[in-house]
Amino acid sequence: MSFPVHRPRRLRQSPAVRRLVRETHLAPSQLVLPMFVREGLTEAMPIGSMPGVMQHSLDSLRRAAVDAAAAGVGGVMLFGVPEVRDARGSGADDPAGVLNVATAAVAAEVGDALVVQTDLCLDEFTDHGHCGVLAASGAVDNDATLERYAAMGLAQARAGSTMLGLSGMMDGQVGVVRAALDAEGFTDTMILAYSAKYAGAFYGPFREAVDSQLQGDRRTYQLDPGNGREGVREALLDVDEGADVVMVKPALPYLDVLAEVRAAVDVPVWAYQVSGEFAMVEAAAAHGWIDRRGAITESLLAIRRAGADAILTYWAVEAAAWL
Ligand code: PBG
Repeated sequence: MSFPVHRPRRLRQSPAVRRLVRETHLAPSQLVLPMFVREGLTEAMPIGSMPGVMQHSLDSLRRAAVDAAAAGVGGVMLFGVPEVRDARGSGADDPAGVLNVATAAVAAEVGDALVVQTDLCLDEFTDHGHCGVLAASGAVDNDATLERYAAMGLAQARAGSTMLGLSGMMDGQVGVVRAALDAEGFTDTMILAYSAKYAGAFYGPFREAVDSQLQGDRRTYQLDPGNGREGVREALLDVDEGADVVMVKPALPYLDVLAEVRAAVDVPVWAYQVSGEFAMVEAAAAHGWIDRRGAITESLLAIRRAGADAILTYWAVEAAAWL
């Protein structure tokens, strides 16, 4: 009998060897925690479809941000849930709006320890729940929305956000917000472009988290799940318009797009492990059908392996503690 010449198993023989030859690593600094702050709350409220995730009051948000900094995570991404909504999302660029007030509080508390980031999109602030303003026809008006994004970007920068997460998927949004920031002297404010953001079912629990008013869907602005090349095209356009970081979202169902975007651009590429990805693991684990910690760690590693330099994940603080 002839013995195998190649024995890849040699490199898997013990934990010590496996650790030494592992290609992909996770570090707390590569994790960003998305956080929700809801106007009018006096204490944190659980989100039913996202076990362990809270809608925060201003105070509990501040405390949770301190915990995140202590855990060593790379950043926090803030989402605001206003008490009052209107057609143009006025709360978004109001300095007294919930997200801007919360941003200032969090930046003052942990702004030196991690990167304070803010979601730049109108959907939490509009009474129709769309990411932009509507034309008379009811369609989302791209260019009218860009003006709102420019105002929102300036309000967030003034509040102390150092990285704006442009998640609305309007054409030209990165260029318009970049120009508005630069014109007001915010040349150091970074832009994280949600470049390849796919429409679909995986944002379900998030809708509860932000008390979304949306009827219908976002398929006229978010990408069609069948399109990989178009995701790469969006990322290239965003880099061209001045994005500092580009992102693919959701993460696990779109690892192919993530790998392709990673190969196509030379800026950092991030991925967002979204609410639906989170809820699936939590639900299966709650039934005892999956090893929770193993599934979380493996999913984060897979997202890194596919090309993400950093990951937005609701498990950021917990995972950081394991690392
Ligand atoms: C838009 C926004 C959404 C998410 C992040 N930013 C909602 C959407 O596009 O419908 C979803 C994040 C998640 O599901 O965890 N402001």
